[in-house]
Amino acid sequence: MSRIAYVNGRYVPHKQAAVHIEDRGYQFADGVYEVCAVWNGHIIDEGPHLDRLERSLRELRIGMPMSRQALSLVMREVIHRNAVDTGIIYVQMTRGVAPRDHPFPAIPETQVVMTSRRIRPQPAKFGEDGVKALTLPDIRWERCDIKSVSLLPNVLAKQAAREAGAYEAWLVDDDGLVTEGSSTNAWIVTRDAKLVTRSASHAILNGITRLAVIELARGEGLQLEERPFSVAEAKGAREAFITSTTSFVLPVTQIDDQVIANGKPGSLTLKLRQRYMAHMGDQTRAEAAESA
Ligand code: PDD
Repeated sequence: MSRIAYVNGRYVPHKQAAVHIEDRGYQFADGVYEVCAVWNGHIIDEGPHLDRLERSLRELRIGMPMSRQALSLVMREVIHRNAVDTGIIYVQMTRGVAPRDHPFPAIPETQVVMTSRRIRPQPAKFGEDGVKALTLPDIRWERCDIKSVSLLPNVLAKQAAREAGAYEAWLVDDDGLVTEGSSTNAWIVTRDAKLVTRSASHAILNGITRLAVIELARGEGLQLEERPFSVAEAKGAREAFITSTTSFVLPVTQIDDQVIANGKPGSLTLKLRQRYMAHMGDQTRAEAAESA
């Protein structure tokens, strides 16, 4: 089956899908995006993802090109046309097409692109053995809370991690404190069983998975501290893990050359991983029941 992309109001074969060379997303990275997980054909945490998309657009003064309801319908149509059962839907919006010039165009017309594809389930090994993280300086701008398509520092960090045999890069600020991963949020569990993740600020993207895991942890009665933690604290932690739309909850069992605790995924991490998978399952069942 051939893939279909949505480009500014049209459903086109993925291979021929293209934007104008003077799209400001292409020339200035002047745009925002969202990635949502599709699980059993349902969009996970759609509401929070669309809230964050609207916020990113607002912060950059890019106009929302369609109603939220229409956006939601098109997302479903893109998923449907690509027969995606388990995978992702990607939505990108940029500040229009205009002759290259830094100020905003006089009449900006937000450009919209959506794609959806299946993704293979994560190798079970990742959950069973955990993954490695490599620490690197955080060289990004000071508005990492905006989900902008300007991702060059993240791309370079992820590549450096992969070249070092690590799954993720943990970015570290000038004070030696971990901000987040290159495309995930970073967490640790302290020796006295407290869950720690950096508080939401301009220094991190407030992950939708992060928010869901905070809720789940509260539901489990776990002690949670939203505060920065240092690389040294992480290396001495009882457990470490990452969260994101595509990684879900993934144990981190090594940071740089330091094996975390006994080198095995921690029990709280595995509990939260299991609760998060259940959270996804619950949503698909609730939606299926609503539409029955
Ligand atoms: N990345 N931090 C950064 C820098 C991210 O890019 C992401 C998401 C996250 C986790 O956010 P969420 O839980 O909402 O996925 C944190 C997506 C998946 C990506 O760029 O592909």
